[in-house]
Amino acid sequence: MSDKFNEELYEAVPLKKFDPEKALCSDLYLKINNKYLKYRFNGDAITSEKYDLFLSKNVAEVFVLKEELETVLSWLDAAKQETIEEMVEEVGEENRELVEQREEIKEILYETFADEELNSRSVEVLQHQSKEFVALASEDKINKAIIAKLTKFNSSVADHSVNTANISVYLAMCCGFGAQYDLENIYMGALLHDYGKAKIPANILENKTNVRYSQAIQDHPNKGVGMIKKMKNIPEEVQMIVVQHHEQWNGNGFPKGLKEEGIYKFAMIVSMANIFNNIVEDEMQKKAMKEPNVEVYRKAIKVIEYDKGKQFNPEYIERACDGLKLSFGNYQK
Ligand SMILES: [Fe+2]
Repeated sequence: MSDKFNEELYEAVPLKKFDPEKALCSDLYLKINNKYLKYRFNGDAITSEKYDLFLSKNVAEVFVLKEELETVLSWLDAAKQETIEEMVEEVGEENRELVEQREEIKEILYETFADEELNSRSVEVLQHQSKEFVALASEDKINKAIIAKLTKFNSSVADHSVNTANISVYLAMCCGFGAQYDLENIYMGALLHDYGKAKIPANILENKTNVRYSQAIQDHPNKGVGMIKKMKNIPEEVQMIVVQHHEQWNGNGFPKGLKEEGIYKFAMIVSMANIFNNIVEDEMQKKAMKEPNVEVYRKAIKVIEYDKGKQFNPEYIERACDGLKLSFGNYQK
């Protein structure tokens, strides 16, 4: 029998232990149709792109040669420690505990993805992690300044933006994204997504019959990105979220009419959170409610669920809806 089929030669290692961008210390194998296939060579990195793909396909394990297992495990421990030390160096010894907690997030998130689908238990973990993330992110100096500015310009745009940012982080985690940098960009991008609306006078923004209303709406993604380009330290990814948050999967969105994979993946996440929150707000306004109830949430969930790839990336819809149903919709699984 070829070595490719020999179970005794290989040992499984949880994928969640690997940092996708670190050069590997041994060859890596995947088990496909009971065959072990060399996937990466010693010295290569898995890459974040492939790591996210594995997440979405529920790949929980990779394999190494049994004789290399011990070397790989101690290398993994050392790599994790190295990442922690680098971060501590950046943010100070007093934040060590926080840094260690953040490192755990990635592994916890991955565990929820080893399951085929989300359930009440995994959603509880995701809710907790996203709340912790948001609590820290909202204290960040730049984000605090953004929220203050939005509130000064237009308080309802500010409330909508904060809600959309919170939901975006949660949905991103539901869809399998847990890297700190990605979540930070998603949070900031969602806070800023309607920045181009904030300076539109209320008599235009709140009156759909006003002749300038449609043009103002059409222009706000470009206007928003123009404004934030003048701000300091706003990553390119955040700008892409802002300018693309009204693009639609089928190409019917604006301002560019981008389509499918041509749309930045995190703009699609923010777009789902934005629509979800818009529906909740509209329903509350119609019914003169101060707080949304479960019926309102369920109505908003249905819109996302029945989209089937018109507006949103169909790959995210199921996970996102399960996440919304189990947290806002009061469903159990
Ligand atoms: Fe918008």
